[in-house]
Amino acid sequence: MGKLNLGILFGGKSSEYEVSLSSAYALLSNVDREKYDVFTIGITKDGKWYLFEGDAERILDGSWFESDVYEVLVSPSYGRRRLGVLREGGRIEKVTLDVVFPVLHGKFGEDGRVQGLLSVAGIPTVGCGCTASAVCMDKALTKTVVASADIVRQARAVVAYSRDGAEDARRRAEAEIGYPMFIKPASSGSSVGCSKVKDGSTFDKAVQAAFAEDGKILIEECITGREIEVAVLEEGGRLTVSVPAEIDVGSSEFYDYETKYVSDESSFYIPARIDEEAQKNASATAAKIFTALGCRGLSRVDFFYTAEGELIFNEINTLPGFTPISMYPKLMGHAGIGYSELIDRLIRSALD
Ligand SMILES: Nc1ncnc2c1ncn2[C@@H]1O[C@H](COP(=O)(O)OP(=O)(O)O)[C@@H](O)[C@H]1O
Ligand SMILES: [Mg+2]
Repeated sequence: MGKLNLGILFGGKSSEYEVSLSSAYALLSNVDREKYDVFTIGITKDGKWYLFEGDAERILDGSWFESDVYEVLVSPSYGRRRLGVLREGGRIEKVTLDVVFPVLHGKFGEDGRVQGLLSVAGIPTVGCGCTASAVCMDKALTKTVVASADIVRQARAVVAYSRDGAEDARRRAEAEIGYPMFIKPASSGSSVGCSKVKDGSTFDKAVQAAFAEDGKILIEECITGREIEVAVLEEGGRLTVSVPAEIDVGSSEFYDYETKYVSDESSFYIPARIDEEAQKNASATAAKIFTALGCRGLSRVDFFYTAEGELIFNEINTLPGFTPISMYPKLMGHAGIGYSELIDRLIRSALD
């Protein structure tokens, strides 16, 4: 195969914009330039798309959009796979994209919208397609699909909408779930808008924080257990499933944004500190969930593992954090697939 034109999408109109910058910088630093001509496309926080031709360091420091950027257009015409770049003087340069790696997390980038746009244009895209991305982004829809496939236990939950108000949410949650509760937006990531609620006094504040992210929220029973994550890679229908990792959140109340990205509270264990049979069960369950949700390419499947030895599915991430120190690449590394090879295999998988 000759050299391919690879589009790398980063940034995006999402609360996980910054996480995407780190993931994209790592990817750009490790992608094999002998195999790919890279077109780096940045999306600003307000959703504007630009080809970025500056130094990758400027993605990391967040100043990328200040210069060396050109507005881009994606043609919806199927099969042209065309990116138009608006150069100085109004000239449009045409680029054919062979494949795109959307290094986007959260809303717009991970929720099927970008996947839908690229599939209309007929551009092969790394990772899940439009439907699976959308279902996996909405934690309530994910739960419904996983429940109907009868794979594994999940936290009991009620779904509430902002249009019905906080009082409606409180009444139903107190009747059906009870304290302590865990409240989270249906579509979010990086723990933004998530809180543990021990009693009625903090309920309204927690509900408002979740509604600030999404008009649809989940109020779940609070699960106490280890946090377990499994990485899945799909190539032509064949799955590579990692051992489970365990995240120890230290003294944090749960795995919140601060613990994920800022403090050095957390530590991790690969494999998770659970017995071998439980490890195998977690990996096998992750594969079943990946398949039931119609995922492709990659996903990270997250669970709790209780002191009683029960595995409980929490959520799935179709575009998980992708720096070399992020859990997905680390778990694949443990399975013998290095970071650059992983990038390559994901791109090949998209072209299948
Ligand atoms: N039902 C629950 N009980 C206890 N803790 C929870 C529950 N749901 C989520 N959490 C905690 O909140 C974190 C973030 O929630 P999660 O559903 O994974 O959303 P995100 O997409 O933001 O990562 C989890 O890693 C876990 O620490
Ligand atoms: Mg999570």
